[in-house]
Amino acid sequence: VKRGGILRPGQEEYLDGVLPPRDALIAEVEQRGLREEVPISDPATASLLAILVRACGARRILEVGTAIGYGVLWMAKAAPEAHITTIDVDPGRIAVARAYAERAGVSERVEFVEGPALEVLGRLSGPFDLAYIDAVKAEYRRYLDLLLPLLRVGGLVVADNVLWSGEVAEPPEEGESAESRAMGTFNAYLMMHPQLQSVILPLGDGVAVAAKTRPLRIEMGGPF
Ligand SMILES: C[S@@+](CC[C@H](N)C(=O)[O-])C[C@H]1O[C@@H](n2cnc3c(N)ncnc32)[C@H](O)[C@@H]1O
Repeated sequence: VKRGGILRPGQEEYLDGVLPPRDALIAEVEQRGLREEVPISDPATASLLAILVRACGARRILEVGTAIGYGVLWMAKAAPEAHITTIDVDPGRIAVARAYAERAGVSERVEFVEGPALEVLGRLSGPFDLAYIDAVKAEYRRYLDLLLPLLRVGGLVVADNVLWSGEVAEPPEEGESAESRAMGTFNAYLMMHPQLQSVILPLGDGVAVAAKTRPLRIEMGGPF
């Protein structure tokens, strides 16, 4: 399912056109995503993720929403030392993602966790260097609350689809979708969060990037 439509079509076409060709396996997953209508990340968004995991020297990465492992392949390739924990509720998709990770030779560094993210996040332990939020839109805020204590200070949060095809900024006259409303609430929460410095980029379907700037007292063992 191709979302986007944030930029004018000419701009989007230009940005798609200047993206370098993907390696064979990543291109195969991209084609499969399109063919089977699996909602995989936009290539520009995946590319941003790859740059960020490289730039922050990520050693432990958390992904909420695996689908067929498109993001996993990009991140595993960009951070050859990193361990990735990725969560999806759909066992069929996890099986496909696992097979691609094996073909890419990265499966030893990827832990696929099957289950609803809200449950799984509650039993993980950190610290993670980067977390990528990309599952149920109405749950983003709760994902953030659960994963922020697991993120190291200086670590990054990336969230996809935060502009929801442009609907968040310009709700259609026939009414705003539940996803768009949830994204609007999440964006406001993210942008004013006291532990984060955040920005929203008009890339793909809208991508938020935030850095954790400080720990909470409770994360430091307090109250003192
Ligand atoms: C947009 S896709 C993820 C795309 C992936 N991050 C990538 O880079 O290609 C969202 C995924 O979230 C999964 N999902 C839906 N509900 C979920 C839940 N409650 N917990 C965990 N994953 C869920 C879906 O099965 C779907 O595969």
